[in-house]
Amino acid sequence: MQGFRSDVTITKKGVIDLVTEWDLRSEELIREELLQAFPDHAVIGEEGDSTGSGERVWYVDPIDGTTNFSQGHPFFCVSIALYEGDTPLVGVVYAPALQTEWKGAAGLGATRNAVPCRVSPASTLEDALVATGFPYDRWVNPDDNLREYRAFMKCTRGVRRCGSAALDLAMTADGTYAAFWEQRLNAWDMAAGALLVQLAGGRLSDYDGSPGEPRSGRIVATNARLHDCVLETLQSARESETPRA
Ligand code: IPD
Ligand code: CA
Ligand code: CA
Repeated sequence: MQGFRSDVTITKKGVIDLVTEWDLRSEELIREELLQAFPDHAVIGEEGDSTGSGERVWYVDPIDGTTNFSQGHPFFCVSIALYEGDTPLVGVVYAPALQTEWKGAAGLGATRNAVPCRVSPASTLEDALVATGFPYDRWVNPDDNLREYRAFMKCTRGVRRCGSAALDLAMTADGTYAAFWEQRLNAWDMAAGALLVQLAGGRLSDYDGSPGEPRSGRIVATNARLHDCVLETLQSARESETPRA
C-alpha cells in the first residue's frame, strides 16, 4: 500500500506486461518470510528465481494486477498458495486497497474477510455475472479471447474484466461471479484462487472439460451448476469465425 498511487517506476517485461519496484519488493519480503518459516520448502514466484526443492511448493504472485496497481486502480492483490505435489493445501488472496482477504485450506473451507465463501446459486447464464481476462500477447496472437468474450456478452448478465486473475477466482469462490475463464496464465496467477473455488463448492476444468490442473495456464472455474453450459458456450465461440467489423 506504501507504493499504491505513488510515483511508481514502471519497467516493461513486454509491450504491455509491466513490473514495478513494488512487485520486486513484495516478492522479496514474502520469500524472506516463507524461507525463514519453512526453510525446506520450495518457492516459485513471478519475479524471482525458483528456490528450494521437494514436495511442498509455495506459488507467489507478489502483485497480481500490476497494470491496475501501476495506474492507481485498486483491483490488485497478493496471491500465495502452498501445494504438496499436485495437492493444493493453502490459498490466500489479499487485496489491500479493497481491504479484503480470501483464504482457504484443505479441510477447512474458504472465507472472505472471515465469512464462509459459497459459490453463486445462479442456474442459468442469463442470471450469471461472469469474468475473464485477456493474455498479454493479444496484440499479435489471434487466439485473443475476443470471440469468447463476445459470446458471453450476448448470453449473460455481464462479463467483467478486472485485470487480476487471482481476484477473479477469489470472487468466483465467494459467489460474486458464477464463472471465470482464462488461458495463458501462470501457476502463480491461479494456484491460490483455484483452491478457493474448489473449497467453496465450485468446479474447475480445462477448456475441453478435462479435469485440468490449476497450474497449467488454462482454466474454467464455475459454481459447478453452470459448468457444462459455460464449456459449451466457450467451445462454440472458439469454433466460430472472428466477426467482421
Ligand atoms: C496478470 C493478471 C491478469 C491476467 C494476466 C496475468 P500480473 O497478472 O492476472 O488479470 O489477464 O494474464 O498475467 O501480470 O498482473 O501479475
Ligand atoms: Ca499475475
Ligand atoms: Ca504479478
